[in-house]
Amino acid sequence: MDIRAQYAPLRGALDAALADILDTGTFILGPRVRAIEEAVSVRLGNRPCVGVANGTDALVIALQALGVGPGDEVITTPYTFYATAEAIARHGATPVFVDVEPVGACLNPDLIEERITERTKAIIPVHIFGHAAPMTSILTTAAENGLSVVEDAAQAFGSADGEWAVGTMGDIATISFFPTKNFPGIGDGGMVVCGDSDLAATVRRLRFHGSEDKQTFTEVGYNSRLDEIQAAAVNLFLPHVDGWNDRRRQVAEWYRDAGLGQYVTLPEERDGVRHIYHLYVVRHPERDRLRDLLQQDGIGAVVYYGTPMHMQPVFAGLGYAAGDLPVAEEWARTGLALPMHPNLTREQVDEVVAAVGRAVERI
Ligand SMILES: Cc1ncc(COP(=O)(O)O)c(C=O)c1O
Repeated sequence: MDIRAQYAPLRGALDAALADILDTGTFILGPRVRAIEEAVSVRLGNRPCVGVANGTDALVIALQALGVGPGDEVITTPYTFYATAEAIARHGATPVFVDVEPVGACLNPDLIEERITERTKAIIPVHIFGHAAPMTSILTTAAENGLSVVEDAAQAFGSADGEWAVGTMGDIATISFFPTKNFPGIGDGGMVVCGDSDLAATVRRLRFHGSEDKQTFTEVGYNSRLDEIQAAAVNLFLPHVDGWNDRRRQVAEWYRDAGLGQYVTLPEERDGVRHIYHLYVVRHPERDRLRDLLQQDGIGAVVYYGTPMHMQPVFAGLGYAAGDLPVAEEWARTGLALPMHPNLTREQVDEVVAAVGRAVERI
């Protein structure tokens, strides 16, 4: 990742926006927040959008708005950042982990039905690494069983499953503007994309202590507001996200063209998916050794989700054992993120591929 290179061309506009915020003294939930809520809404089929403090709060608030509470079960993927599962547990509900698909590493829709019980309330598919989850099948299973669907779109703004844009398919979707995300801010920020105006009104109350008017408090909510500095940055970045995503796809193509596939298993796209490569995760059986050798060679190579959620100590009480979710465990054991950002050059890609070749020879 090279965050500063990404926003360098926008630095002047960012400086001006920050100066304006200081001049006007409007810091929280001001005109820039309203502007970005409107702009993302226009982009996502006019679904009402509500800015919040981060992508984790977006999930927590989305689940509360859907009525998830103690004793409920929520089906999700074990191969995700902890926040997805944490948001479920935060409400006293139980995350029910279902294995992922071999291609794309998103929730496997064929395995959901058998894990549904009378306590199941919702499903959270995660568009992991920028690859859209198989939403059509997940939505069908959800509709047949009366379940809500929360899309965790923290890593996949601009990705699509066929003609369906990520963020427009579930009852509600969540976005993170964490600075390393493909749709970044310059600090913590997030958004809830709501399927209807009633949900949006609830989310709006919940982000401000469960109140509509700051006088009357109708629910136990949160202090989870998007601030103007983040909104200013995200407003500036939104028109560039598609271009950045195109560049990410170009980099992925370069990796393929440069022969990276001789050395490691490359990420694939399920038919019809527009992967936006938030992360470029390859696989190799000697992953840790490969990572160490690449790092020694000065190449950024990082393991994400090396311990899947069902094996995390916090969920030990749920009774999962190694081998229960084999596809996720295989990804966790073998997945390695290689350099990926919109400013990578073809030369740098060739350099990474050469380094991977050298490393694999030494393993
Ligand atoms: C899949 C996923 N969900 C949720 C989050 C939480 O977002 P945030 O860091 O903005 O709280 C992240 C990012 O960290 C993520 O990758």
